[in-house]
Amino acid sequence: MRAVVLHRYGSPDALRLEEVERPEPGRGQVLVEVRATTINDYDWCYLRGKPYAYRLGFGLTAPRVRILGAEIAGTVVACGEQAQRFAPGDEVYGDISEAGFGGFAEYAAVNEDALARKPAAIGFEEAAALPHAAMLALQGLVDVGRIAQGERVLINGAGGGVGTLGVQLARLKDAGEITGVDHGDKLERLRGLGFHELLDYTEVDFTRTGRRYDLIIDTKTNRPTSHYLRALQQGGRYVTVGGELPRLLELLAKKPLVAATTTKRVSIVALKPNANLSYLNELMAERRLDVVIDGPYPLERVPEAMRRFGEANHVGKIVITV
Ligand SMILES: NC(=O)c1ccc[n+]([C@@H]2O[C@H](COP(=O)([O-])OP(=O)(O)OC[C@H]3O[C@@H](n4cnc5c(N)ncnc54)[C@H](OP(=O)(O)O)[C@@H]3O)[C@@H](O)[C@H]2O)c1
Repeated sequence: MRAVVLHRYGSPDALRLEEVERPEPGRGQVLVEVRATTINDYDWCYLRGKPYAYRLGFGLTAPRVRILGAEIAGTVVACGEQAQRFAPGDEVYGDISEAGFGGFAEYAAVNEDALARKPAAIGFEEAAALPHAAMLALQGLVDVGRIAQGERVLINGAGGGVGTLGVQLARLKDAGEITGVDHGDKLERLRGLGFHELLDYTEVDFTRTGRRYDLIIDTKTNRPTSHYLRALQQGGRYVTVGGELPRLLELLAKKPLVAATTTKRVSIVALKPNANLSYLNELMAERRLDVVIDGPYPLERVPEAMRRFGEANHVGKIVITV
């Protein structure tokens, strides 16, 4: 089968389209003919082996995972021993980042627990673009952020997968005013998604405007915790899904002190992959949620698409069709 293989840490040039052996589904696994996959921050970190601390998990000198791709949508073509949830012909999708990756290939052998049935109403490209970012956004807004009706919400890093889905999910939860922060031309492209206000982070520091929010969802934590606290209302919550490692560690260290001395709360989302896909299925089937797709690009253009992700030229999710 054709697959985009990563042989060493480096730039997108370290990715090569090659003929490799088709995997066999193991115990509890199914073999999926991949129709669409996406690019995520996980792939970008894995490709570069950065931050270096991540190499403790990725492989110290060389990447342990050779075929990246953390989300897939496709068709089951074979079932391994004791795989009982799906049958050949079933259309499935899921976040496979905790099941060994493998989306940048014509076939992937995946633990069946990492997959959900794809409703016919959702296309393969949309389905592939959904599970990772939508779960981060949903878990950030609802499970951790406890969003409530009428609340003023800010999403920092509004142009990516989490931001473009997050604004729609926040509206579905009856949020009040929603502010998005990103930069450049991207802001224009974000206007139709439901933000009431868009700020350019190269011009405005949202933590210094004097405006205060009930809930801040951040995909790019890069400031001291105290800066986020001053942008929160009394009782406000700052919830990050990711960002710079030292800032995330600072946030974790200060979390108990913030809780003990203020009415505000700071938290980090620990992603539970595929936890609530049935809710998303409903929203998608009723067309109440729209996935913003950048591309799609064919498999042979994965290195180029990866570069595009690294330069953050995308809006929404970069999708690869296989
Ligand atoms: N918590 C978990 O368990 C978990 C699991 C997996 C992934 N993650 C994290 O979740 C996040 C995924 O978010 P995503 O998929 O939406 O990311 P994304 O697609 O990379 O989007 C991030 C957006 O933020 C913008 N941006 C960059 N620097 C910024 C700044 N200083 N201020 C405001 N915006 C900025 C980027 O555009 P420009 O660069 O063009 O400005 C881009 O539009 C990542 O941080 C990832 O590491 C967390």
